[in-house]
Parts: sequence; C-alpha cells; structure tokens
Amino acid sequence: MPTSQTIETIARLRCIACGATPGSAGQDFRCAACGNLLEFFFPGWAFDPLLSDPASLKSLWLNRRTSSDALDQSGVWRFRELLPHIPGKHAITLREGNTPLYRLPRCARAAGVENLQAKHQGMNPTASFKDTGMTFAASAAHLGGFRWVACASTGNTSASMAAYAARGNMHSLVLIPDGKISWGKLSQSLDYGALTCQLRTDFDGCVQILNDLVRQKPVYLLNSVNPYRIEGQKTAAIELMEQLAWEPPDHIIVPGGNLGNSSAIGKALLEMRELKLISRLPKLSIIQAQGANPFYRCVREFGGKKLEPMTADTLATAIRIGNPASWKKALRVLQATGGEVEEVTEIEIATAKAEIGADGIGCEPASAVTLAGLKKLRRSGFVQPGESVVLILTGHALKDPDFTIKFHRGDLFAGTPEQPEAAQAKYLQRAPLVLDANLGAVIAALDAAERNS
Ligand code: F0G
Repeated sequence: MPTSQTIETIARLRCIACGATPGSAGQDFRCAACGNLLEFFFPGWAFDPLLSDPASLKSLWLNRRTSSDALDQSGVWRFRELLPHIPGKHAITLREGNTPLYRLPRCARAAGVENLQAKHQGMNPTASFKDTGMTFAASAAHLGGFRWVACASTGNTSASMAAYAARGNMHSLVLIPDGKISWGKLSQSLDYGALTCQLRTDFDGCVQILNDLVRQKPVYLLNSVNPYRIEGQKTAAIELMEQLAWEPPDHIIVPGGNLGNSSAIGKALLEMRELKLISRLPKLSIIQAQGANPFYRCVREFGGKKLEPMTADTLATAIRIGNPASWKKALRVLQATGGEVEEVTEIEIATAKAEIGADGIGCEPASAVTLAGLKKLRRSGFVQPGESVVLILTGHALKDPDFTIKFHRGDLFAGTPEQPEAAQAKYLQRAPLVLDANLGAVIAALDAAERNS
C-alpha cells in the first residue's frame, strides 16, 4: 500500500448540545443558535472502503513509520484518515507525537497495581501534549489565511502556539495570567516570538478578554474550544492503542483543566471502537486538583447537570482553571466510557510528582495528578489491583523546575496550613548538599547516603 496516500475525509461541524450542523464556524467556535461548542463528525466514513477495513488502516499507519515524508513522520498527521482534511501544503509540523510509553514500576507499587504505564506527552517538541492539537489547528489557521493567531493560556498552550505560529510564518498573541505561570513556559513564548501579554487576572479572566477580542479583530482562536485542536489531540489515544498492539488497557487517567484533552482522548476512543480498531473501551477517568475542581463538583455534587465556576487555586498552575470550556464534552466521554472523577490535594500532587521522578521519568505538577488520582481510585475500589492502567503525563519535568526545587528543599508548603502534613513526603526529598570542596566531605556524603539507602 502506498505510504503517501491521503483520503479526503468528509468532516462536518455539529453542535454538541442542539445538534445543529453549520457549514462553517464563527470566530468563537460556538453554535450560533445555542452558544454551545462545536465538534467534528464524519458522515463520509461510512462510504470509505479503507475505513471499514481496520487491518488495512493499521498497516497503512505502521508503514508510514518508515517513510521520510514530513507528514508521515508526525505522530499526528500519520493518522490523518481519522482527521478532517487539510491539504499537505498548509501543514505545519514539528514531528510532534511519537511519544514514549513507559512502565512505572515504583509508582505501580505505590499505587497498588501490577500493570502501570505512562504515555509521556511531555516528550513533544515544546514539551507538552498541546503540540498534537496545535499542529493541526495552526495548520487550519494557515489554510484560512490568518495573519494572527491567539490564545489564553496557563503557559503550555501559549508555548506551543507560539512555536507553530513561528513555523507557519504567522504572528501570535498570548494572554497569560500575570504570575502563577512557570518561567519555563513564559520563556518559550518569548523565544518563539509571540506578543506576550501578562494580564492582571487569572486564566478565566484571560479567556473572557480573548473571547471579546476575536469578535472585533481578525485573529484566529487557538484555545481548545477550536475543534481542530481536539482532532489533533485525538491522535495521542490512537498512537497509544497502536503501542499496545490495539489491546486497550482497563483504565486511562488524565488531568482535567479546561477539559479539552480528556474530551479529545474520549472522542478518539469512541471513534476507534466505531471503526472496529479496538473492540472495547477503556474507562477514561479525569483528575482535578482540589483547589481547582469545578468538574469534580459538577459530577459528584450536581450529577453532571451544571458546572458552577469557581476561583481556582493550585500550585499545579497548568490546571488552575475555574470555568472549564469543554466540560460538556468531557462529561459525555466520562459517561460513555464509564470513567470516574477524582480530586487530589496539593500534597498528594507533590508526592506523586516525586514518585514519578523517582521512576526516572519526571513530569510537571499538573501531570502528577494522574498518579495521585490513581491511588485514590485504587482505594475506592474503582481500579482493581490486576487491572491495566495508563496515565497520560501532559508536561515535561523541566517546565516547572521551581516547584521541584522547592519540594526537594522542603520549602513548597512552608508557612501554609499544609506544612505539618507535608513532612510525610520527606522520605522523597533530595535537597542538594552544599559542601566544602574536598574529597573527604564528598566521601562522607556518599557513605551516609549508602547507609540510608
Ligand atoms: N496538564 C498540563 C501540563 C496542561 O498544561 C494542561 C492545560 C492540562 C494538563 C489540562 O488539560 O485543559 O485539556 O484539561 N493547560 C492549558 C494551557 C489550559 O493553557 O496550557 P485540559
């Protein structure tokens, strides 16, 4: 089968609430009739012979891994048969996706499960999962002839958008909260040449201003309300299934912030089952920080009937979000896959992050909510010891070194009500030793460490 083959997939937009199917989307990607979000669906799939042949589709995707074509080398565009069609000449790719799946033996013991793996989306070109959606949505902006793209962000979306805009010769506008975003992320958007505005508000305040802006200016919105973002991010789940030889795990666990990622992974799972690429659905569970838990409360307190926005606060700044845009999409996939929601404390997050680090993997704080959540889901019995679990790690450890250094020095919770409880995590802390520059001091440190190991 030729590896360069592309299929004109017929994609349409549909409102997730009222079912309207507009011919095109407005600047804010919301339904003109009812204001809810739009999503892609694919009426053309039923008539496509390749899509009714799962074995051929799988081997087409596998063969592309040996191709030297830029699109085939991308872990997103390699799966383009399941995405809306964007002509190759508009594709902006940094060879995103292709992220590793790692075993986590120590974390497995800590969580009380036998089979625990992590798909590390922090191993993308700008070091977060955002690149998989951004390659596709930035390409859609290019196709649309936009000069400016824009996003509100807690730091990772903006880093990713700035990189892809630069690669596609577009200008980018970043709205981020002033403070409460990591230096690593901020520095990326500066280096990639974005116009970076730190607004004196939080992420939710930035979103509001951006929504007003796109109604007045011809800028292309690249937040995850943009359905092209969701399509690109679907490929993480497709790639995961390929890595697992199309044998789904029992559980997939993701962090929940604005809830685009969980929506995308869930959409991919449902579509893969529809196309018979997989025969059963993993349960998709969503974990939030306790201080930024509007979706947890939506499900647990309000039975999914409403989402009450809140003022969010957590040291996991990536998910410091009080009014998640995609909550209805996430709720649908949570229910369709039979997943669960959980909330985790700041200390649980910090502990889980250090445990993932101790497995030689590392991640940023928001990603570690997955392991912290798994421990709770194990304790509640929702996850059984013999079940297989995949955590989605969303960002690289180097995104937020401040958090890591403070944790290991024992400063992370200094002066907070959590300080006494934080002592429980002391056994994971590895503060640097400041020693005199002589051999004896280093040997003494080595011997002491050996005695304590
Ligand atoms: N993990 C990381 C590292 C993130 O950066 C985000 C979101 C999430 C998890 C949550 O994903 O929003 O799809 O539910 N970061 C966004 C940003 C909001 O602006 O970078 P979600």
